[in-house]
Amino acid sequence: MNELAKMTIAAAVAAGAILLLPLTGVADEAASPIFGVTIPQGYRDWTLIGVGREDGLKELRGIVGNTTAVNAYRDGQLPFPDGSVLVKLAWKHVPIDGLDGAFTSGTPTTVQVMVKDAAKYASSGGWGFGRFVDGKPADEAQHRTCFACHDAHAKDHDFVFTHYSR
Ligand code: HEC
Repeated sequence: MNELAKMTIAAAVAAGAILLLPLTGVADEAASPIFGVTIPQGYRDWTLIGVGREDGLKELRGIVGNTTAVNAYRDGQLPFPDGSVLVKLAWKHVPIDGLDGAFTSGTPTTVQVMVKDAAKYASSGGWGFGRFVDGKPADEAQHRTCFACHDAHAKDHDFVFTHYSR
């Protein structure tokens, strides 16, 4: 490569870096603290993996995954590959009038996200976490609790509680 070509490439790289700087420098208010996870686009149309429920919380939950995560589930691949994304949707449970003990899902309460990137999130089992209420990320203290609990109770399944429900 001649000198001129090298200089042209160097200049192009520098220009690119200058253009990118303002974009990367700004903290993303839509991203979770610690992990920088955002709500993935189109998640509401993803494949249902299973549902969850916790006694005492008047909530119903559904766990969906993107294609990478769903393929890993179906192939029994563990750990989940990079690019796997899981979203837990939660709604208020709504009692049905006149039908004791029957409920449907109502207004959304939280959206929780796990993103697999083994290198980036090496200190939390390869998963980045995000919890959102009304589209806004919860505070840092809440994000400190995520991996601790998933580590304590779901370690044998790559820190993921939900199994694929057929
Ligand atoms: C006290 C334990 C506990 C804490 C803390 C916790 N989780 Fe979970 N998480 C669970 C359990 C149990 C499930 C299984 C399904 C359910 O609860 O509906 C789950 C499920 C999930 C799922 C669906 C995938 C899976 O593992 O089944 C995501 C995504 C998720 N949690 C994200 C988070 C995020 C983000 C945080 C932190 C803000 C967090 N979790 C904190 C216990 C916990």
